Amino acid sequence: MIFIKSEEEIDLMREPNRIVGECLNFVGERIRAGMTTKEVDELVYNFIKASGAEPSCLGYCGYPASACVSVNEVVVHGIPDDRVLKEGDIVSVDLCAYKNGFHGDGARTFCIGEVSEEKQKLVRVTEECFFKAIEGLKAGTPLYDIGYKVQTHAEANGFSVIRAYTGHAIGREMHEDPMVPNFGRKGTGLRLRAGMVLCIEPMIAAGDWRVEVAPDGWTAYMRDGRPAAHYENTLVIREDGVEILTLPAQQ
Ligand code: MF3
Ligand code: CO
Repeated sequence: MIFIKSEEEIDLMREPNRIVGECLNFVGERIRAGMTTKEVDELVYNFIKASGAEPSCLGYCGYPASACVSVNEVVVHGIPDDRVLKEGDIVSVDLCAYKNGFHGDGARTFCIGEVSEEKQKLVRVTEECFFKAIEGLKAGTPLYDIGYKVQTHAEANGFSVIRAYTGHAIGREMHEDPMVPNFGRKGTGLRLRAGMVLCIEPMIAAGDWRVEVAPDGWTAYMRDGRPAAHYENTLVIREDGVEILTLPAQQ
């Protein structure tokens, strides 16, 4: 079921999404070598609670933490634990906040100290894939143009797009229809409508796109062991463009 949000609902969605964006910035300023992924999760939990919101991921389908913290070849859904971050790692932090009856969702990939040139490029291109995808995006755009743009930019840089996980709409539920794949054929799919709220989230691999899930049922890692990155924002489709809800104004 696809929900078109009213202006009142979009106003209610601003707060959880702003908290997600601010929390990602907060984590980005503190994440460093020597910290465990569990300590990253504690930063997220405390920030979201102190903001008067709830961490949507905690308990979602049995998920045991407030954030997904995915290191190197783990592309998404890394469960925080005692793993210690070290110089040269790339770490994707994905989190959701619930407030005013709505969810917000966002992710960033952080570099720990000096990372390899390949990882630097992967993180940069993954972020660029998001901004390529929203160029010209507005009411009337065919849904799969988003994936087409992500895939074109990733593959032009020698990377591949993950197939097993996609973006999605969001609202009163964390995952609503439609799914938003990171691959697709230009000019196909439903036409987007003003008031749709989407999570566009390129998940890009340095090597092959095939993913395996660990026995814990969550941790998704690249079969070839090469690194992967993730970048996500929640945005509103408008008649004349998009309004990103998880990029708080820098002050
Ligand atoms: N935030 C993720 C997404 O982009 C969902 C995380 S799954 C959870 O869809 F179990 F951690 F919640
Ligand atoms: Co998402």
